[in-house]
Amino acid sequence: MKRQPIAFADWSGREYAAIARCLLSGRVHQGPYPVLLRERLAQMYAPSTVHLTNYGHHAIEIALGIFKRLRPERVEVIVPAYICPSVIQTVEACGLRVRSVDVQDDLNVSPADVQAALGADTLAVIAPHMYGCPARIHDIESLCNAADVFLIDDAAQVVGVRQDGRLLGTFGDAGLISFAQSKTIVTGIRGSGGVLLVNRPTWAEQANRACAALPPASGRLGPLADFLWNHVGHVYTGHSGYYLGRALAVLGRTPVADQRATQISHLEAGIALAQLGRLDSLLQDKVRIAQAYHQALRAYPRLRFPQFAPGRFLARVMLLLPEGSDFEGVRREARSRGLQTRTGYAAHVSPGSEAPKAQAMARRLLGVPCRPGMSQADVTSICEELNASVERVASR
Ligand SMILES: Cc1ncc(COP(=O)(O)O)c(C=O)c1O
Repeated sequence: MKRQPIAFADWSGREYAAIARCLLSGRVHQGPYPVLLRERLAQMYAPSTVHLTNYGHHAIEIALGIFKRLRPERVEVIVPAYICPSVIQTVEACGLRVRSVDVQDDLNVSPADVQAALGADTLAVIAPHMYGCPARIHDIESLCNAADVFLIDDAAQVVGVRQDGRLLGTFGDAGLISFAQSKTIVTGIRGSGGVLLVNRPTWAEQANRACAALPPASGRLGPLADFLWNHVGHVYTGHSGYYLGRALAVLGRTPVADQRATQISHLEAGIALAQLGRLDSLLQDKVRIAQAYHQALRAYPRLRFPQFAPGRFLARVMLLLPEGSDFEGVRREARSRGLQTRTGYAAHVSPGSEAPKAQAMARRLLGVPCRPGMSQADVTSICEELNASVERVASR
């Protein structure tokens, strides 16, 4: 089959032009784009207020800091058992306890399960829209209000999608967006941008102060080069980035991204503005690709697409392999035929909780290519190859 690589971003000439403008003007870290980006997002998300940082999980950290000051006696945060590990690490780094809640087929928590997990210690609920698939955030907001518990509407992976007429990210007390790889808006990798949305006007000033106190961005050219080489140009550069990284490490020159919270760079804010200018087409292309998978999978009923719904945007296409499949064996087999796949997150189950669905699904969820401009023929051949790989591995 034709090579079918994974894509981590949908960048056009506009994003490369933004990069060129920053490089040619010699302004990579500081410049006017962060202010313009903030204004653009503030118009879009009003009345929520917009606060920029370098990672989505730092937005969670700032929000949890505000909640803790208001309710210091409450120490538990409800988090889905299927989640990006940085969310768990952030809750724990804030000195709070994670309480895992199982997810449904759409990889989101249900209002009933959140309700059942609420207790006297619950400070907050973090409710993500996994891979962009909307959670039942309106119902979760209602039950958090009734229980007097804070809610973070985690829209890390989705920009510009509404539920009940409101943008995801604007429900509850605070929301967030991430600009790292494979999200809706992508500006690079590791620390390339994050947004805190504050949905309570009285907290805007605290969030302003927290973000204004962050150090300026620094060292962002290394992560940009890493992203371009290993995640955008990987079709041509292959595994060379891995060997280059090892060689640089020997020379003590690994481009390590700043793990600390900083301001967003001029460069990455410029890329975000270019992506926002194309938001409708970014969303529409992903809706079209999800539909193409749904169509192609009719011929392969053993492969499931649990997050699909007609017209739904999904940042990634995650398929569920048949029960009992040799997951790594299937990945290897598909790779040997030119089909690149990716894993999802490992389930995280806190002590004393149970999450059988998240654990079972995490072992079988496989990400398949959803590159810009893919045709129905591409998608059909991917599904055909994946199904054949599952069958070949099972028959060994
Ligand atoms: C649902 C969710 N929340 C939060 C984050 C954290 O975002 P960042 O990597 O920008 O810190 C991620 C990152 O993948 C995520 O998927």
